Amino acid sequence: MPASTLANLRILLGVSGGIAAYKAAELTRRLREAGAELRVVLTENAARFVTPLTFQALSGAPVRMSLWDESAEAAMGHIELARWAERILIAPASADLIARLAHGLADDLLTTVCLASAAPLALAPAMNQQMWAHPATQANLDRLRARGVSVLGPASGSQACGEFGAGRLLEAEQLVAELAALHGPRRLAGVRVLVSAGPTYEDIDPVRFIGNRSSGRMGFAVAQAAAEQGASVHLVAGPVHLPTPAGVIRRDVRSAREMREAVMQQIPQCDIFISAAAVGDYRPGEVAAHKLKKRGRALTLTLAENPDILGEIAARTSRPFLVGFAAETRDLETYARAKLERKRLDLIAANRVGDGQGFDAADNELLLLWPGGRELLPRADKLALARALIARVAALRTAARAAPARRRRP
Ligand code: PMT
Repeated sequence: MPASTLANLRILLGVSGGIAAYKAAELTRRLREAGAELRVVLTENAARFVTPLTFQALSGAPVRMSLWDESAEAAMGHIELARWAERILIAPASADLIARLAHGLADDLLTTVCLASAAPLALAPAMNQQMWAHPATQANLDRLRARGVSVLGPASGSQACGEFGAGRLLEAEQLVAELAALHGPRRLAGVRVLVSAGPTYEDIDPVRFIGNRSSGRMGFAVAQAAAEQGASVHLVAGPVHLPTPAGVIRRDVRSAREMREAVMQQIPQCDIFISAAAVGDYRPGEVAAHKLKKRGRALTLTLAENPDILGEIAARTSRPFLVGFAAETRDLETYARAKLERKRLDLIAANRVGDGQGFDAADNELLLLWPGGRELLPRADKLALARALIARVAALRTAARAAPARRRRP
């Protein structure tokens, strides 16, 4: 999405206290370059790291910091600011600010403006990796996401405190691109998208199962990205511990056969099916009624083949636009292209798995293949990749619908 979609957009940039506040100066410059009209609000703590004068010079407008600024508040300045903003971006968003927003506090100018504004809110968190991973921070973010707040990043890497991990502010360029993607035209408005995500568990006995390492992150990110583009999204999720993205309707399942049943129920009502789930190819032929006992010798399990959900849908004459994933440990492009052709998919997203890649990682790298085309999406967090994947899906589907003579899908 070109940053020009931000042209003339009235953006209120909030800066909270943290060492990453200095990066907000570069962000201000980039947002102005992208054509946005800017007002900057600093929290008191942000002003300990950076000066209002810097932001005044870069934004071309006076910077606000306090609810108790008599000249600005004579005309209810915080309400005027809240109405003025078409979009609010807080970068960096500290753990404390996130907590206050999650609980609806309005104890300074920035949180008050957020509460008083109907503008969509995006947060770019930046904090120490332990603070980021803390369940309190994650619960606050889940709460905000459920209210439709967008969370951009954070990135992983070395931190100002000397530690290493997730919690770095995204670079200014990436933030501008992500904001532009959020604000751009909604490419899937009115489109019904079904996404499968996560692993399947195949029971051996009442306490054991065969599963895989899928965390569901990739599929959940795809569901979120489709919803951001205006699609009505159903998500069929294997056993994972992830919050449901805002606006997405979720159904939880456990085994491949349960996933098949849930997917098949939705297929007639969907325009696009994206199969990101790591569906187990095999299940134990029989599930023991009681816990299997140790017998002092090898145990042989006979496995039965599971249904190939995507393959079954692909074989139908009337089918939605079909996107598969390919998880490969070697010869990625060759195997993925073979899957694309064998299953007659419209698009396949291939990722390398194993050695900490693909499964259960925050980042990924995707090779998109479709009949006659390819695009490499370099390593990035799964949400950024999911947004790029959805942009490609929307473009291919639009092209297919615009060329009815060559259209392969109903
Ligand atoms: O969940 P994460 O931790 O974020 O990890 C993401 C991921 C690595 C699981 C994801 O990016 C991914 O690659 N998902 C597909 C994994 C997979 O099962 O790939 P496959 O090459 O074995 O299957 C090919 C396609 O057929 C997939 O779209 C799969 O959903 C589908 N399939 C596979 C088997 C089966 N019985 N039924 C299916 O529908």
